[in-house]
Amino acid sequence: MSSPIVPEERVLPRHIAIVMDGNGRWARKRMLPRVAGHARGLEAVRRVVRACAERGIAYLTLFAFSSENWKRPEQEVHFLMDLFMTALKQELTQMHDNQICLRVVGDMAGLEAGLHETIRQAEEMTAGNTRMVLTVCVDYGGKWDIVQALQKMTQENPDPSLFTQERLASHLAMAYAPDPDLFIRTGGEQRISNFLLWQLAYTELYFTDVFWPDFDTATLDQAIAAFQSRERRFGRISEQLTA
Ligand code: FPP
Repeated sequence: MSSPIVPEERVLPRHIAIVMDGNGRWARKRMLPRVAGHARGLEAVRRVVRACAERGIAYLTLFAFSSENWKRPEQEVHFLMDLFMTALKQELTQMHDNQICLRVVGDMAGLEAGLHETIRQAEEMTAGNTRMVLTVCVDYGGKWDIVQALQKMTQENPDPSLFTQERLASHLAMAYAPDPDLFIRTGGEQRISNFLLWQLAYTELYFTDVFWPDFDTATLDQAIAAFQSRERRFGRISEQLTA
């Protein structure tokens, strides 16, 4: 199947957020252990990071590990943490050479000290890069994010009459990024699953049956083309958009 070419005159999503689902089912279909799906999923991460940077996407956000993923078997959780550590170390130089700024967001209280330190070093090294911001959400949950933002806002000033949407948004973990324009979920499920709950209020949603390890540039371009065919009204009516 040939991939639809992304027409250049159409507006690109500035920010794409992805729920990378289907690793386990990809592996099961091949009689492999679930973790083999995660390992192949990392290859898809490499492909999509490169492709988004090449297409001029300014922000790419990947949901790598949710607040709820701690409930998975211990062995799988360990494998995923090791995979993050290895990936960070292996990919860092290439990311830096490609002018990609890495941010890791989430609660992360349960992460080992070594992983915290690797994340800190990677963020520090790439902080000045401006081509694309890659955010990896680890131990992240949209509900956690809203509560931690509320806590910070209250600490700043506990007067509820001063609580505004703008102030709350400024304390969210990804306050440095615009809200996502395009949300992609692979693996066939049609849910948000506690991802960026606040930030997805007006995001265009795109669901595909493709399992994450099979996600490639063609699937990415299909999602971008679908985004470009939509009319975003943000609560207004069509006539107001053309006036
Ligand atoms: C969901 O598939 C996937 C995950 C919980 C892990 C995602 C991690 C990676 C793709 C690897 C590395 C990522 C980075 C950014 C370094 P699932 O296990 O829920 O699949 P299933 O629904 O088929 O069981």
